[in-house]
Amino acid sequence: MGIEDYNISEENMPVHIAIIMDGNGRWAKQRRKPRLFGHNAGMKALHNTVHLASDMGIKILTVYAFSTENWKRSQEEVDGLMRIAVEYFMKEIAELHRNHVQVRIIGEKSRLPKDVQKSADNAESLTKDNDGLILNVALNYGGRDEIVHAVREIMEEGTAPGDVTEEMISAHLYTRDLPDPDIMIRTGGESRLSNFLLWQNAYTEFFFDDIWWPDFDDDAFYKLIEAYQQRNRRFGTA
Ligand code: IPE
Ligand code: IPE
Ligand code: MG
Repeated sequence: MGIEDYNISEENMPVHIAIIMDGNGRWAKQRRKPRLFGHNAGMKALHNTVHLASDMGIKILTVYAFSTENWKRSQEEVDGLMRIAVEYFMKEIAELHRNHVQVRIIGEKSRLPKDVQKSADNAESLTKDNDGLILNVALNYGGRDEIVHAVREIMEEGTAPGDVTEEMISAHLYTRDLPDPDIMIRTGGESRLSNFLLWQNAYTEFFFDDIWWPDFDDDAFYKLIEAYQQRNRRFGTA
């Protein structure tokens, strides 16, 4: 099936889509393969999704690649995920750049291995002036950690307690200059946020899909946009 098989209107397109790319491990297990096999397949699904979002004119895509809690996994899996991150930034960057994608990392970079930091810095600096899709890759990202960071910065700036505003907190998050997500989708069948974009998701439309992340394809994406356009967003109004 193609986009013409879906009831998608050019108007009312989401500006910002956030994705919790979950289910790689279980996808691999189903195939009797190691978890890292699933993470590699997940990288391919990310490649395809970035293309699709960019072609559809989506402005911002934020993907959860590694949480502040994912360090609790086996050393082998953590190392493998870090290797995949480097591979992603090295192998995909030329094509991303050609497609005018602007890559940004959200999360606490300093705890990441040096080679991950370096390849991420490279990707960011090469693409920083691109005016196409903004791709936020959440690496060592935690929503609570992000809010703590913001509060620390605000205090360091000497702000008086009574002067703290919601806008000020938004302006100190990793997503500081970006609008909040319109869509938050989690693949893999779990219905939880797992510490993703806690502040930004205040009025986001949530979608929980049973599809494993490596299976996420064009149809899953179109289906999501179609379902989003059928939602009635009220933002607290009657
Ligand atoms: C998501 O897939 C990728 C990361 C958390 C890095 P998982 O590895 O969590 O896959 P499942 O949830 O075990 O299937
Ligand atoms: C969330 O998935 C993090 C990423 C997809 C990167 P997890 O698999 O880590 O979340 P839990 O442990 O099921 O909540
Ligand atoms: Mg998981």
